[in-house]
Amino acid sequence: MTLADPVVWHDVECGSYSADLPLWRDLAGDPTSTPPILDLGAGTGRVSLDLAQAGHQVHALDVDAGLLAALRERAAQLPGVRVQTHVADARDFDLGDVRFGLILAPMQTVQLLGGAEARGSMLAAVRRHLAPGGRFAAALANTVEGFEEGDVVATVPDMREIDGVVYASLPTAIRAEPDGFVLARRREKVDARGRREVSGDEIRLDLVPAGTLEAEARAAGLTVLPRRAVAETDDHVGSEVVVLRG
Ligand SMILES: C[S@@+](CC[C@H](N)C(=O)[O-])C[C@H]1O[C@@H](n2cnc3c(N)ncnc32)[C@H](O)[C@@H]1O
Repeated sequence: MTLADPVVWHDVECGSYSADLPLWRDLAGDPTSTPPILDLGAGTGRVSLDLAQAGHQVHALDVDAGLLAALRERAAQLPGVRVQTHVADARDFDLGDVRFGLILAPMQTVQLLGGAEARGSMLAAVRRHLAPGGRFAAALANTVEGFEEGDVVATVPDMREIDGVVYASLPTAIRAEPDGFVLARRREKVDARGRREVSGDEIRLDLVPAGTLEAEARAAGLTVLPRRAVAETDDHVGSEVVVLRG
């Protein structure tokens, strides 16, 4: 199978992160949590597949159909693992009658939604989909130090070799904006003949302090539970994890 470039870059830039997995496993394994689990912004399934392999019933939602197709193909390679996928927007989703004991939003997905109104709409959808007593946990990273193109930073590119092609993605700038920040990356692809393609990518994240999301959650009728945390690693910033009850 040849992977589409968006899938490859998603894997290169998100796939190696594992520091948060123990937290999601811990929340999923709580005996009071009823199945199934919903992974919001699941991508190619880094978290969904990990939880499904541990025996949990998992639904994966993402706005990108290509990423979810890759997730389904990966699930099909794993004996006994089945993940139900939903192409939908986290800001306004309706999955029918299913109610989840746990909804997760790993890796700053709630910072990609485009502002307070969008988050309010997402929180309302989350509340509608939680089983009684169900929880929603969202990872946030706001302590990002800005740097500009040309600054010397000790950053190692995220890299992967697939079918003889080397993919490398290097953060080149983090620019502060009024209510967010833009992460710029340089993506380089070198094939077995040494042919090189270089492109740029930028994503904008909203600044969402944990207290802000908690206040928005209260306004949406959710109950705030104690926060959790994911420690920073050599390669990744740490996260605060807001935990809410329906
Ligand atoms: C940083 S990636 C995290 C992927 C995956 N959860 C992980 O932890 O590896 C963010 C994901 O959110 C998805 N996403 C962004 N905006 C979304 C939206 N409005 N609705 C649903 N998914 C969204 C992206 O397509 C992407 O897969």
